[in-house]
Amino acid sequence: MKQDDMIKESSAEIIAESPKTVSKQMEVFYNPVMKLNRSLSVCVINAYFGKPARIADPMAGTGIRAIRLLKEAEGKIESIDINDYSEKSVELIKKNLELNKINNKFTIHNKDANLFLLESTGFDYIDIDPFGTPNPFLDSAIKRIARDGILAVTATDTAALTGTYEHACERKYWAKPLRNYLMHEIGLRILIRKIQLIGAQYEKALVPVLSYSKDHYYRIFFRCEKGKKKCDIIVKQHKFFQEKYGPIWTGKLEDSALIQKMLNYADPESAKLLEILRDELDVVGFKELNNQKMEDAIKKLKSKGIESSRTHFAGNGIKCDCDSATLFKIIKS
Ligand SMILES: C[S@@+](CC[C@H](N)C(=O)[O-])C[C@H]1O[C@@H](n2cnc3c(N)ncnc32)[C@H](O)[C@@H]1O
Repeated sequence: MKQDDMIKESSAEIIAESPKTVSKQMEVFYNPVMKLNRSLSVCVINAYFGKPARIADPMAGTGIRAIRLLKEAEGKIESIDINDYSEKSVELIKKNLELNKINNKFTIHNKDANLFLLESTGFDYIDIDPFGTPNPFLDSAIKRIARDGILAVTATDTAALTGTYEHACERKYWAKPLRNYLMHEIGLRILIRKIQLIGAQYEKALVPVLSYSKDHYYRIFFRCEKGKKKCDIIVKQHKFFQEKYGPIWTGKLEDSALIQKMLNYADPESAKLLEILRDELDVVGFKELNNQKMEDAIKKLKSKGIESSRTHFAGNGIKCDCDSATLFKIIKS
């Protein structure tokens, strides 16, 4: 059997298995690739909440996310409920909390995540972080997220959303995916719409405040507003892309003011992504530049009064407020 390793991530020190390659079959392990994902949870909680919030970590794994929150956003936390259905995970969470000398503000549960959420009285922040699709947990998380609370969702089944498995996408996300250089953006917007439709059933309008695609996963933070009219405004922004892909969410992916505040709490890796997200132009899709320098292209477009920006979806991608013919004519001039 493999020995557990001692692992340090930001303020937290934990013991956990840290395998070279991770898979869903492994019961509990530490995944270093998700450090950024956890760091952004810390930033959102610090930047968004005015008063201490009730936090839920329904799929806690090693407990590292909850531990980091308790150490790095302590002032913004009233309580944190840490849950995992694996007994091995719960044992590890207890050991790791002790190791980090954390002895208050938390309660540990060992239940199925849906049961844990539905038996609760609700939370201001819920973090859904499963292996694969978040689908099985959306209904209960949306039912228990408070007005003006934040629902954070991770999805790692990007193959369906980016069109490798078109029928799986239609079945699981009620939309037709696209399979070209825009697939990551369209997949993210398909996922957002699906989650918003579940919210609309309960008259909860889920407004994305931070959304991104990275490596093998999607991550979205939604602010939960309440009311039928707000839901209608959301649903009106669900449209087809190029008349046949989607429907997708065509509204904003980011709240730039929140991102600006988050930067006060960000480490260099998080800040790098946040700055691109903050400045990304609010349009659906982008174009790829081949031999042109991004800064030159943005400058030339600006001189013609056309807004443009980089995009986190692709290093050579440019978002702009004009059609392709106009874009390439201007940047080649
Ligand atoms: C991706 S890991 C979580 C990682 C953790 N959130 C982190 O940031 O390090 C997914 C966890 O969900 C747990 N899990 C999967 N299905 C569950 C369910 N139905 N109810 C509760 N926990 C579940 C697994 O035991 C595993 O620990």
